[in-house]
Amino acid sequence: MHRDPHLSNSHLMTRRHAAVARGVGQAHEIFVSHASNAEIWDVEGRRYIDFAGGIAVLNTGHTRPEIVNAVKQQLDRFSHTCFQVLAYESYVELAERLNALAPGHFAKKSLLLSTGAEAVENAVKIARAYTGRGGIVAFAGGYHGRTMMTLGLTGKVAPYKTGFGPFPGEVFHALFPNALHGVSIDDALRSVEQIFKNDIEASRVAAFIVEPVQGEGGFYVAPPEFIGGLKAMADQHGILLIADEVQTGAGRTGTWFASEQWPVAPDLITTAKSMAGGFPISGVVGRAEVMDAPGPGGLGGTYAGSPLGCAAALAVLRVFESDGLLERAKVIGARLSNSLRHLARTQPAICDVRALGAMIALELCKHGDAQQPDAELAKRIVAEAARRGLILLSCGTSGNVIRILVPLTASDALLDEGLGILTECLAACSAG
Ligand SMILES: Cc1ncc(COP(=O)(O)O)c(C=O)c1O
Repeated sequence: MHRDPHLSNSHLMTRRHAAVARGVGQAHEIFVSHASNAEIWDVEGRRYIDFAGGIAVLNTGHTRPEIVNAVKQQLDRFSHTCFQVLAYESYVELAERLNALAPGHFAKKSLLLSTGAEAVENAVKIARAYTGRGGIVAFAGGYHGRTMMTLGLTGKVAPYKTGFGPFPGEVFHALFPNALHGVSIDDALRSVEQIFKNDIEASRVAAFIVEPVQGEGGFYVAPPEFIGGLKAMADQHGILLIADEVQTGAGRTGTWFASEQWPVAPDLITTAKSMAGGFPISGVVGRAEVMDAPGPGGLGGTYAGSPLGCAAALAVLRVFESDGLLERAKVIGARLSNSLRHLARTQPAICDVRALGAMIALELCKHGDAQQPDAELAKRIVAEAARRGLILLSCGTSGNVIRILVPLTASDALLDEGLGILTECLAACSAG
């Protein structure tokens, strides 16, 4: 691969700081030259193993030839018409595929958009149009995007919401169950009832919105009994259940949608990120009668469901089938979480290892006490890992969780190499 000898990460960082608004964060001071499957090379020729996947976007890896070729072929035919002006078959086919993939024995319809936040915004619009109600109940620690409504839904202030309020009204936050931090399923369900007492009557609530596994919030899994309890409350009061699967969807957890593992089907599901392997497309899929509540012209967007995104998403679905990636997600989850649990026995800084499929996290704390989060250690490990050639991301409301979102197409050898670096970093940073 040709490299410009004048390019360096530090030179590009200087230009970035001068040209790009400082509010746009950057986890690593690295500029990418090229990437392949689960490996990335920077502008200085250094190789990295990618355990971040562009924040859960690359379940099928970087530059997968079938996906690249599908997009190239689409580019040669046409790149844009705006589906609301002139339609194309790939949008309809992708909607058909999502309808078939979503859980629930009822008729479904889909809507395609561009980003995860846009999908969440539209799920809220659809729920409000169907129920004729305004209220939305979201959960503490949840993350739903950076637009004003999705920031309102997000249950973590810094850094996402700081300085940006006021946010749209009629949004309330209940507790998300978290056994490690002392919030039981009953506590969480009771907190929803408390909202009905303190803030808004149940008959004015349109929807509950919940992530099957809180992503930015720290990879905490919503227990099936909690979802069952929430759905019972929803049914009692005519409230819809929205699963925000922007991060959990597209096969990451071992089923196409994580909500397939729920005891009850959600009414609406949002999807984005890995559904198109790096091309910006998102969607809402759900009960046909709910999806049809907004009138013609009420939904859409200039770039919504772009032909390039549709071509990429259909290719992603083919790669999932050809490579058996749902099964692979389970295998990767078991392999990495077993190794990390083994490591936790000798590393008291690891107070929890959790995984749903290949959505894997390790939580770090001080003195082996889960109530003393160690965000500094997480930061040091992430930085040290990058120096040693492994790209990691942290998450969690306290910033003390390291999450693994490695491409599902990564080989066992690469997983082991990455895990080896993580193990070394843990030892080096905990000792320091
Ligand atoms: C659960 C969830 N919802 C919504 C979003 C927002 O998606 P986007 O950044 O594509 O707008 C994210 C992004 O991380 C997410 O994890």
